Amino acid sequence: DNLSHENLYVEFHDGGVAVIVLNRPKALNALSPDLTRELGAALDTLEADDTIGAVVVTGSAKAFAAGADIKAMKDWSYMDVYGADFITATWERLTTFRKPTIAAVAGYALGGGCELAMMCDFILAADTARFGQPEITIGTIPGAGGTQRLTRLIGKSKAMEMVLTGRMMDAAEAERAGLVSRILPAEELLPEAIKTAQKIAGMSRPIAMLAKESVNRAYETTLAEGIRFERRLFHSTFATEDQKEGMAAFVEKRAPAFRNR
Ligand code: HXC
Repeated sequence: DNLSHENLYVEFHDGGVAVIVLNRPKALNALSPDLTRELGAALDTLEADDTIGAVVVTGSAKAFAAGADIKAMKDWSYMDVYGADFITATWERLTTFRKPTIAAVAGYALGGGCELAMMCDFILAADTARFGQPEITIGTIPGAGGTQRLTRLIGKSKAMEMVLTGRMMDAAEAERAGLVSRILPAEELLPEAIKTAQKIAGMSRPIAMLAKESVNRAYETTLAEGIRFERRLFHSTFATEDQKEGMAAFVEKRAPAFRNR
């Protein structure tokens, strides 16, 4: 079962996991308008697919994605980018996707590639991963969250240095800084990402979606409002059958059989 586009393909794995593989090797997965449109379409399909509980986004061994497509962008006018609402219209689909997403990053995640990874719920990195926001070196600035999400993830000092110099961080620095959750040997990256996604997909689907929504809220609001939001979602889990099943299974010393309701 395979969903193929020109610049990416989707693999379906056991346990409710789909892997979106960015596949534009001749340009190191540079995020052309066609690629991001295909990504949005794939996410629409996976959101609607009840068999899917978690999604991994990955690239190649050499590049997760080397950024927005510079060759496509270079002659665009202000009205081309403003008029088409460049980025918001397609890239942001990842941020409205309700099921958990993992970025599995090997090689370059630069510019829009780093931003795309940060739009996922968390990042697993190969020891070969390199992260950067080099836009300033080509006369522009990050435009898909690089000045905002990166700053919240790694703090002002490191984010400012990266955005102002364009230097790359290796996987070890990215883990120390809190940009990635774990580093893996390159050959274990995808298998481990799939295993992690399967673990998540094995939880109650609506509960995992509530958990994701609540963590993401921490990036959108004040602590007091975030706590209030969490409290209400926590209360709402008691309206689900899966909360009853999960707690009953614990007490009965058996594995829960979640029914996603
Ligand atoms: C278009 C790109 C590209 C990109 C690489 N390629 N990155 N094409 N857009 N972002 C193409 C190269 O032109 C080349 O094509 C081929 O991919 C292989 O790349 P090389 O440069 O030959 O590879 P290498 O020497 O190994 O260097 C790898 C690299 C370098 C360090 C990653 O490619 C690089 O610096 N890329 C640009 C990184 C960048 O500035 N990203 C930010 C983009 S701006 P040919 O045809 O020559 O073989 C951005 C703004 C986002 O992302 C704003 C929100 C949307």
